[in-house]
Amino acid sequence: MCGIVGATAQRDITPILLEGLRRLEYRGYDSAGVAIIDSAGGIQRVRAVGKVVELENALQATPVSGHLGIAHTRWATHGKPAEHNAHPHLSNGLAIVHNGIIENHAPLRKQLQDLGYSFTSETDTEVVAHLLAHHFAETGDMLSAFRNTLGEIHGAYALAVVHESEPGTLYCSRMGSPLVIGEGSGEHYLASDPLALLQVTDRFRYLEEGDYARVTLDTCDIWDHAGNTADRPVVRYEHAAHSLDKGEYRHFMLKEIFEQPQAISDTLAGTLGDDHVLTAILGPEAETRLADIANIHIVACGTSYHAGLVARYWIEEQAGIPCQVEVASEYRYRSVVVPANTLLITISQSGETADTLAALRYAKDQGYLATLAICNVAGSSLVREADWRLLTHAGPEIGVASTKAFTTQLVSLLWLTTALAQTHGRSQFVARNVNALRTLPALVEQVLGLEPAIVALAEQFANKHHALFLGRGPHYPIAMEGALKLKEISYIHAEAYAAGELKHGPLALVDEDMPVVSVAPSDSLLEKLKSNLEEVRARGGQLINFACETIEQSTDPEVRDVSLPWVEDCVSPIIYTLPLQLLSYHVALVKGTDVDKPRNLAKSVTVE
Ligand code: AGP
Repeated sequence: MCGIVGATAQRDITPILLEGLRRLEYRGYDSAGVAIIDSAGGIQRVRAVGKVVELENALQATPVSGHLGIAHTRWATHGKPAEHNAHPHLSNGLAIVHNGIIENHAPLRKQLQDLGYSFTSETDTEVVAHLLAHHFAETGDMLSAFRNTLGEIHGAYALAVVHESEPGTLYCSRMGSPLVIGEGSGEHYLASDPLALLQVTDRFRYLEEGDYARVTLDTCDIWDHAGNTADRPVVRYEHAAHSLDKGEYRHFMLKEIFEQPQAISDTLAGTLGDDHVLTAILGPEAETRLADIANIHIVACGTSYHAGLVARYWIEEQAGIPCQVEVASEYRYRSVVVPANTLLITISQSGETADTLAALRYAKDQGYLATLAICNVAGSSLVREADWRLLTHAGPEIGVASTKAFTTQLVSLLWLTTALAQTHGRSQFVARNVNALRTLPALVEQVLGLEPAIVALAEQFANKHHALFLGRGPHYPIAMEGALKLKEISYIHAEAYAAGELKHGPLALVDEDMPVVSVAPSDSLLEKLKSNLEEVRARGGQLINFACETIEQSTDPEVRDVSLPWVEDCVSPIIYTLPLQLLSYHVALVKGTDVDKPRNLAKSVTVE
């Protein structure tokens, strides 16, 4: 999505800004721009629609240089992708770049128009530019003007500002969207992602929610939301994170499992308000049409299909919208009946899976209201060809077994469910979901701490040839995902069943050689699940229960309980995925298989 870079130095900062934008390219964008204060003290701005290379071409035609500047890659929310909507936006000697959404932009725009400000874009960002210019005209002081402006805007933002009156100073703030300050020697930088600045520094101050800062060549003053001076220590960047090497980890899969707290935070950045979700991130057309959606079809493959199956439970329960989910290889070859106002959702990590892409192309002629791609790769075919898109920000996933891609897909789908509940008069779910999503990264971190207990279980599992995974409700697809993980990397045959189906056939397989893994959170179906597990024990099956710590542990030596913390129902499928990922990883490790590149499989299935 959008990206910010800024710099103040005693050398020309244009190359730093451009390299920063290139490094943010993977996030996806539709236009880019820079604003630099030149040697005469005036702002020079260059913007271009398209890739960063288009901006480079524009800069070759109109070169700019200077010691202070800001730059931006934009993903359209308010206003179509066009040069006049690209950032930076200007007002009376200042330039500003912004990630996120200003929710009260409409009344502020009206207020500023009444004061005589004229607008050249449809963006919410230009509102902030004029508001800041207005406060500067009143006070003559940038810091007070910036503080007053922040007090009047609502929503999610990361902002960076330069003003001609202070040709060595960057102002910045964050609320709901990430922003870091990079430390150089005698120079400072800003970015929405440290990756953008790794060519100049690996030392960063991480701004906290509501922080604002004034940054010069050699000073960095930070204040918290309440206006108190804040000390944000310089932290050395952990190169292993999000990089294309394994760092301290033995396998990419393990690294990617442990990256999930960060991947989830990145996916949620800029998407949550105080007690609601910011639907503008879907883009203006999608935002206005959300309320029209009366039906949903979800199409995907493999792990991404499992994410869709979980979402069906959420969407039908919380948004009250009928939802059907299908594997893409089946969907693309059948006659689909599409009721009026149906949204088609495709889900894919890579965005290049042949069946999913073919399903999207087939759907284009079937009379859907719109198509939405939920995807981890911004420039992928799926994202380019869908009408609307929702990007997961898991970062590159190298291990063939999908881990952080799956949990971030679930996060995006829960976010979308919340947006649909919000627009379909089901407000009772909204604030609770937002709160659960906000606290999710910390919870994921905590549950990953169960690894030692799972290592012990893996030893007893590794000599088995078959396994059953059981779950109910939205945890049935989680059981399916657990079984898929185990079979693809440890080559143990594993099947998942809705626990209620057990006695309709698979119970015949259960004996002392058949481990049965249950996904047993403390939800309304727990008592039913317990009865199914009794049926397993009565046939001598070995049980491994991933269950909530509030449930009494079994004293039966053939039952292993792994306790998870109590969690809100809405995020429980995400949390219960984690121990299953760790279990399959450690079983594969004991078996000595090629964890990251399991036999016969490819990361991206681009053939039918
Ligand atoms: C799961 O671990 C696999 N990597 C596989 O099932 C994968 O989810 C499937 O091939 C779909 O890929 P996609 O998400 O890139 O479309």
